[in-house]
Amino acid sequence: KMDSSKSEDCEYFGIIHGIPLYKEFIKYWNDVETFQARPDDIVIATYPRSGTTWVSEIIYMIYKDGDVEKCKQDVIFNRIPFLECRTEELMNGVKQLKEMASPRIVKTHLPADILPASFWENNCKMVYVCRNAKDVAVSFYYFFQMVTSHPDPGSFGEFVEKFMDGQVPYGSWYKHVKSWWEKRNNPRVLFIFYEDLKKEIRKEVIKVIQFLGRKPSEELVDKIIQHTSFQEMKNNPSTNYTVLPDEIMNQKISPFMRKGITGDWKNHFTVALNEKFNIHYEQQMKGSTLKLKIEI
Ligand code: A3P
Repeated sequence: KMDSSKSEDCEYFGIIHGIPLYKEFIKYWNDVETFQARPDDIVIATYPRSGTTWVSEIIYMIYKDGDVEKCKQDVIFNRIPFLECRTEELMNGVKQLKEMASPRIVKTHLPADILPASFWENNCKMVYVCRNAKDVAVSFYYFFQMVTSHPDPGSFGEFVEKFMDGQVPYGSWYKHVKSWWEKRNNPRVLFIFYEDLKKEIRKEVIKVIQFLGRKPSEELVDKIIQHTSFQEMKNNPSTNYTVLPDEIMNQKISPFMRKGITGDWKNHFTVALNEKFNIHYEQQMKGSTLKLKIEI
């Protein structure tokens, strides 16, 4: 059974630099690899379903000085292009970015060691958002079901096996977070947690504003917190992806802005699966000082 589901996934994903990824992205990989960064680019990097959209909107608000109208002028994937995203016709992150005026905000899900070299050479600022593995697995499971470019994930238990095994787009969550954790002492990299955003949004927003070299006035911070709350973003057509047709993203199956909470894994993992996951987690994260905030 394992083998047949793996070969089925091969129709959807190829392998690039050792990670499974959508075949259409890989087809034009040279464009990604040779991407020319600019020194004032800011990169938002995450493993999928870790709060990318949330932090993207926070950073866009900072850049627009809290002007909500400017944030609503276009959909988020036009304001903040998704670097490696590529389909034959519709999406081309590299092209969007090339044509964009500075300062650009770049979204990527690439591990640190696969990020195009130009971003490191140009000393770009980067924000990495990390979310606990169990909630990521849950969120990714629903994403597989609603975004049509994915194979059927099977049962939740079956999907978690694939997740643990790194047989999902962007590969192993463990390797991904460790690749960025290694960069955390680089002053150009800010490593933050989804769980901290949930717990202490004001503190985290101020941290991001200061990292970007701006002043965290109370007014700006208030506006950001208000505009980027889960409810606001869920109801905002420029952030909730509802402009995409059902054939690409079917939000009747599961909304892009699904629950926006921490600890939803407790509603999905059986006791046995949780025990298995914990053992595997310890093995994968052994020797790393990265400690995830799971019990929130
Ligand atoms: P859930 O599926 O657990 O609800 P990404 O943007 O990286 O794809 O991450 C999507 C996840 O972030 C989803 O998680 C989504 O609901 C959550 N999310 C998006 N905006 C949020 C916000 N403003 N506050 C809290 N969670 C948010």
